[in-house]
Order: sequence, then C-alpha cells, then structure tokens
Amino acid sequence: MNTMELIRSRRSVRSFDGAAPDREQLDELLRYAAAVETPYALPIEWRILDAKAQKLSCPVITGTDTFIAGKLRRAPHAEEAFGFAFERVLLCAVSKGLGTTWIAGTLDRPAFERAMELKPDEVMPCVSPLGRPAAKMSLRESMMRKGAKADSRLPFEELFFSGGFDTPLTPDKAGALKDALEMVRLAPSAVNKQPWRAVVCGDTVHFYEKQGKGFVAANGWDIQKVDMGIALCHFVCGMEEIGRRNTVEICDPALPHPADTVYLASVRLG
Ligand SMILES: Cc1cc2nc3c(=O)[nH]c(=O)nc-3n(C[C@H](O)[C@H](O)[C@H](O)COP(=O)(O)O)c2cc1C
Repeated sequence: MNTMELIRSRRSVRSFDGAAPDREQLDELLRYAAAVETPYALPIEWRILDAKAQKLSCPVITGTDTFIAGKLRRAPHAEEAFGFAFERVLLCAVSKGLGTTWIAGTLDRPAFERAMELKPDEVMPCVSPLGRPAAKMSLRESMMRKGAKADSRLPFEELFFSGGFDTPLTPDKAGALKDALEMVRLAPSAVNKQPWRAVVCGDTVHFYEKQGKGFVAANGWDIQKVDMGIALCHFVCGMEEIGRRNTVEICDPALPHPADTVYLASVRLG
C-alpha cells in the first residue's frame, strides 16, 4: 500500500486480539521512528511500553498491553512537531498490519509519564496502543466512534480556500493539490474536531488552525496544534506521493482570516 492508501484505510483501533505484536516488528518501528525528521528540527525520543509490566492503564483500549509513546522538550512548535512525526510513525505501524489510536486524554497520564521518565522540561503529548485489530469492535469502541462521529469528516470546501478565506475551494478546482488536500481532510484529530483550514495561493499552501473552545491548557499547550502537525504530515505525504518537492516554512502571508483562526505554517511547492 502506498501512503495515500494507508491514510484512506486507517482508523483508530481500540479493540485488539490479545496477541502481543512481534518484537522484530516493534524494533523495526522504533528504528523507523528514530529516523523520522520534522520540519521543526525538534528531536523526539520514542519508547515501546508494556502496560502490564509497567502498570499503565488506558481504559478505552482492550486486548493489547503494548504501547508506543514519544517525548520531547517543551518548545515553540513542539505540538506540531510531535503531530507530524507520530503520524509518520503510526502510518508505518499501520503498514505492518498493526492497529493504532492517538491517545492524549483517556490514559493514566502520570503512570505513562513515569514510564517515559519524563523530565520537568519535557512533554509526552500522546501515546498509541499497538497490536492486531480484533475481529469485532468492543461495544465501548463502537459507542465512542458514534459519539465522535468518527466516520465522517467536514466537506472539502469548508476546509480549503483559494486565494483567501472568502473563496471556498472545491475538489474539481484543486488540480494537482486535490489528493493531498483530501489526505488532510481525512486526518484523525482530537475528538474529530478537524481544526485544519488551508488557503492555496499559487504554489504555496498556508495552513491555519481553527481554535475550538477548551483545547488550550492553562500552560498554553494546545492539543489542536498536534492535529495541525498531523494535517501537515498528510499533506506532505500526498505531495511526496506525486513526486512534488515541498518545503514547510513559517512565513505568515498576513491574509485576512476569521477571528477564531490562527496561522500555523505554509508549504511551498517546488
Ligand atoms: C491528538 C489526538 C488526541 C486523541 N486523543 C484520544 C483519546 O484520548 N482517546 C481516544 O479514545 N481517542 C483519541 N483520539 C482519537 C480520535 O477520537 C479519532 O482520531 C477521531 O475520532 C477520528 O476517528 P478515526 O481516527 O477512527 O478516523 C485522539 C486523536 C488525536 C489526533
């Protein structure tokens, strides 16, 4: 499967079949993760965790004790960097037949952070279970999917714009960007809020975050910026797939934008 097929086929998996994933596969995944680069040049340390041995609990997950987690230094853009990198890692896991779910909230965070030996200046934004998806979803999993409307996404023209926020972009007008923008549209996000917005201006695509209420912690940490990192990752994957060179840069075009929407980054296409 190519990356766009992986993105189309992935979903959060919360019910697993009970078998521990192959150690070799996990080592390969860790090697892949260690080599992942982000546009923000912030190093991330990855570990495989064993929930049983390390007494970690993640109540929404059944049928696996294996988790992957990453930690990095608190710094500007740590959220986007983590989102970008972890999505690459999780897509690699999916390519190996493993189920994954981004988990930021429904976990015993202090226990996971202890297992990651988190230092005061570090953050562990999310973890994911790893394992073979169970043949049938648990009742809790299907209820969670219904609650988050996890199978639906906002329409293309509500997310993407041409030249400015006043001109919605329809898929038929998106030309060579259509598939990569569709990859953004399909991305996973915290409670499926889909905060990404993008404005196409010539050969540059400017990404914005539509800030939902209640997502920014008292210390300024914004989980929706992790979603934005995932969106950037999917866009870059889509462009790589069609062999288009791209550079992620922070270069605010100062376009007029809605009050609840903030500029995040731009992707310049070569
Ligand atoms: C940053 C982030 C945090 C998330 N946190 C949780 C979580 O704590 N618990 C959970 O069950 N799902 C969590 N999710 C999964 C989302 O609910 C899920 O991606 C979304 O509903 C879309 O469903 P899908 O992944 O199956 O496409 C999170 C997703 C993201 C991207």
